[in-house]
Amino acid sequence: MPDEDMIVTPWEVKGKIDYDRLIEQFGTQRIDHQLKERIYRLAGERHFLIERELVYSHRDLDWLLNEYERGNRFVIYTGRGPSGQVHLGHIVPWLFTKWLQDRFKTRLYFQLTNDEKFWFDEPLSIEEVHRFTRDNAIDILALGFKPENTYLIDDIRHIDLLYELAVMVAKRVTFSTARAVYGFDNSMNIGGIFYPSLQAVPAFLHSWIYGKNTPCLIPCAIDQDPHWRVTRDVADKLGYYKPASIQNKFVPGLSEGGKMSASDPMSAIFTTDSPRLAKKKVLSAFTGGRTSAEEQRRLGANPDVCSVFMYYKFVFMPDDRELAEIERKCRGGEILCGECKLILAPLVMDFLERHQAAREEFKDRVDEFSAARLREDIRR
Ligand code: TYM
Repeated sequence: MPDEDMIVTPWEVKGKIDYDRLIEQFGTQRIDHQLKERIYRLAGERHFLIERELVYSHRDLDWLLNEYERGNRFVIYTGRGPSGQVHLGHIVPWLFTKWLQDRFKTRLYFQLTNDEKFWFDEPLSIEEVHRFTRDNAIDILALGFKPENTYLIDDIRHIDLLYELAVMVAKRVTFSTARAVYGFDNSMNIGGIFYPSLQAVPAFLHSWIYGKNTPCLIPCAIDQDPHWRVTRDVADKLGYYKPASIQNKFVPGLSEGGKMSASDPMSAIFTTDSPRLAKKKVLSAFTGGRTSAEEQRRLGANPDVCSVFMYYKFVFMPDDRELAEIERKCRGGEILCGECKLILAPLVMDFLERHQAAREEFKDRVDEFSAARLREDIRR
């Protein structure tokens, strides 16, 4: 079996990913044509990630939209484990989250799981996770979330907001469930075993704070789904709605095989890379090209395995006609990989320049978005 060694857990993504099989394995639903059209109608516009089936799977989204149409508004919840710099893959669910926030005018809870990264990422010191928490928060804000509707939850600093719910969740998840769902073995520290109860909390936080059961939608990549299985099981027992989710595929790395690896900095573009370095990464990226220019002109290349094409598809070419045109030229041998990279490079450089300018703008504004503001609401 070609995808035999596929492993997708919240902490490890390995092997060739079979997205259809993940739907079966995890028990999520595909976003079908009817649901797509319904999202577009309620959002008031289409979205290229849904259109291209890069946002492709969900849990209970139809239920959430039923509630929405009946006037029962939802909140959005997403997150980041701050273990290093943010790369262009991470921002895909976040840009999509921003679209949801803008189109549905909803509140966003954004969890920064520094406790998770401290427990799961052996070499990281507590100072480092705090540093990455702040730095990654700046990246998140640079994407343009609305301050009045955005609450950044720092697990360690805001534990007082989370702990009561975490305690209630933790009591209802046995070790044998945790082991079966997450694959924990005896070497896992007890912080890691407790951790999933913390990732469940923001799905219920709004309901708990305001004393009104409120639907919650979680946009993320499919690797986080095991958390939602556990969270949804517990929801019933706590008397809250089960959170709905909407899940994207992974932006591949730039090297052959598509892995983004921390040990190979050339395999990913980070939001803090200089535009010059990013250009270098694009120019050395793996493509679906032929061994010689002559052969490529004659036989065409293969965008299906090409990392450059994936970056167009996920981020840099939202216009479907433009994307179709580059695909046509690629398959037909009209364009060589070197030329194609020279189209992507300035798009990436321009994005980074704008993003880094926005980072400057937000670097002293993280507190404005802090979930600490919620303390007032709990007391009331
Ligand atoms: P983290 O920091 O690993 O990833 C942040 C978000 O990015 C998604 N993601 C990707 N999406 C597209 N292409 C990729 N190559 C790629 N790699 C990662 C992840 O699925 C995630 O949505 N435990 C979580 C933090 C968290 C969270 C949440 C995430 C806490 N609560 C709620 C989503 C929703 C984590 O470490 O994410």
